[in-house]
Amino acid sequence: MPDTRSIDRTQEYMARLSTRNLVIGVIGLGYTGLPLALAAAQAGFTTFGYDHDAELCAQLNRGVSHISDVTNSELRATRAADLFTAVPAPGLSPVPDVVFLCVPTPFGQMPDLSYVRSAARSVAKVLRPGMVVIAQSTSYPGTTTEIVQPLLEESGLRAGQDFALAFSPERIDPGSSGWNIHNTPRIIGGVSEESTTLAAAALGAVLGDPALVLPVRSPAVAEFAKLLENSYRLVNIGLINEMAMLAHEMGIDIREVIDAAATKPYGFQAFYPGVGPGGACIPEDPLYLAWKARALEFDTRLIDVAAEENQRMARYIFVRVLEMMSRRGRALGGSRVLCIGTGYKPDIADTRHSRSLRVMELLANSGARVDYADGLIPTVNVDGREYKSVDLDAADPADFDVILVLVARENLELNRFIAAGVPVFDAAHALAGGTGDQVEYLLSASAPTHPEHCEQDQDERGGGEEPMTGNHGDGEIPFGREVEFR
Ligand SMILES: NC(=O)c1ccc[n+]([C@@H]2O[C@H](COP(=O)([O-])OP(=O)(O)OC[C@H]3O[C@@H](n4cnc5c(N)ncnc54)[C@H](O)[C@@H]3O)[C@@H](O)[C@H]2O)c1
Repeated sequence: MPDTRSIDRTQEYMARLSTRNLVIGVIGLGYTGLPLALAAAQAGFTTFGYDHDAELCAQLNRGVSHISDVTNSELRATRAADLFTAVPAPGLSPVPDVVFLCVPTPFGQMPDLSYVRSAARSVAKVLRPGMVVIAQSTSYPGTTTEIVQPLLEESGLRAGQDFALAFSPERIDPGSSGWNIHNTPRIIGGVSEESTTLAAAALGAVLGDPALVLPVRSPAVAEFAKLLENSYRLVNIGLINEMAMLAHEMGIDIREVIDAAATKPYGFQAFYPGVGPGGACIPEDPLYLAWKARALEFDTRLIDVAAEENQRMARYIFVRVLEMMSRRGRALGGSRVLCIGTGYKPDIADTRHSRSLRVMELLANSGARVDYADGLIPTVNVDGREYKSVDLDAADPADFDVILVLVARENLELNRFIAAGVPVFDAAHALAGGTGDQVEYLLSASAPTHPEHCEQDQDERGGGEEPMTGNHGDGEIPFGREVEFR
């Protein structure tokens, strides 16, 4: 039977939540933390965002956002209403009632949980009875109870008794026009039933819809579910990339194959091939699962193989461009190649783990003269060399021997270049059909065809997200024949 003290505490908390009389804290104001902090402020909570980066805090307090999903005007509105303030960490002052941990969890040779540990220690210093702590950073099952909980309990307070502790994986889809923080369901698992209830209520209030928050039995279930979601994508992207390479060898258009398979009303979800997955999630999250599995002497073989399949797409695309040029009697060495798109997915200014950069590196190493065009990314560093984005609208077609589309972007059209005789290899299904023999598609069988624009949701495309290993290996050349690189 629940004790009356706990019932009173819960009732008081729920009342304060509904009157917005609770202070929300968000540790880490990056891709996931800033949108969450803004949502909390927009929901009417006094919100403090704590970040190690003092310059970033000053910038945010001036109303200048560094995240494309948060506009300056949204930020300024919450500043004007005195609902959002960025505070340089590590100190959590003022002390929040509910605090979200949104710090990075990179993977080098093994999980790097140093940011999580440091954030948990900051919370422990100010922890008081009744506080609600919600971890969101992606990690292996067990992180909340094995790492975060003991650090918090160094305060002398007990999780599930004195304070609530839960894990809720972030599902933000940066740059998405359809899915956002206010319509994407979230799962949450606490260390106790009361922890789940209190944390779910806070998250629901911040998101603006309690029905979006789905409780699960434990933090470990929520942690594993996040890794399952991204391993599922990694494996399916790897599968479709493998099928695309095979279909090309067989002279079959993989696009037609995918469209045909997608007519099945159940049991099949369409994924599309591309340069390989990038960003912070798909390349790294499955590594967390694989690492934890190894501790149990368990090999996550499907994850490893899918990562390899995705890894070799950069070299595969490079070879396809090389072959296309050869058919036109041109060597790649000395040719001027314009690559379009460097972000890890369309319409996003984020090159973390972007495989487009690996393709640029391969081209440059083969002796090609490489340029890129990306309206959102003014400069990139590839293999120690700084590249400056070309203005596609102002570019002279005579300056390029071939165009390689690596990442789709809205309203991309290359008619001026095509009319001037510049061949195009479209690895991102970005161009509308009817562009003639000068355009070759990654999706097509071999000789140029006229594919229509691919309408598939970006989430299910192989392009734009990157494989799981941090190195630049590309696996084997995917077919058993000699390839000349120059
Ligand atoms: N970016 C995404 O699309 C995405 C999607 C789902 C899940 N995630 C996960 O969310 C977590 C956060 O990722 P992100 O992309 O928001 O990170 P990010 O790198 O964009 O931002 C993290 C911020 O935390 C700050 N920080 C680090 N340690 C701190 C500390 N101890 N105290 C205060 N501030 C600190 C950094 O200065 C930085 O501003 C990761 O585990 C990531 O895997 C990210």
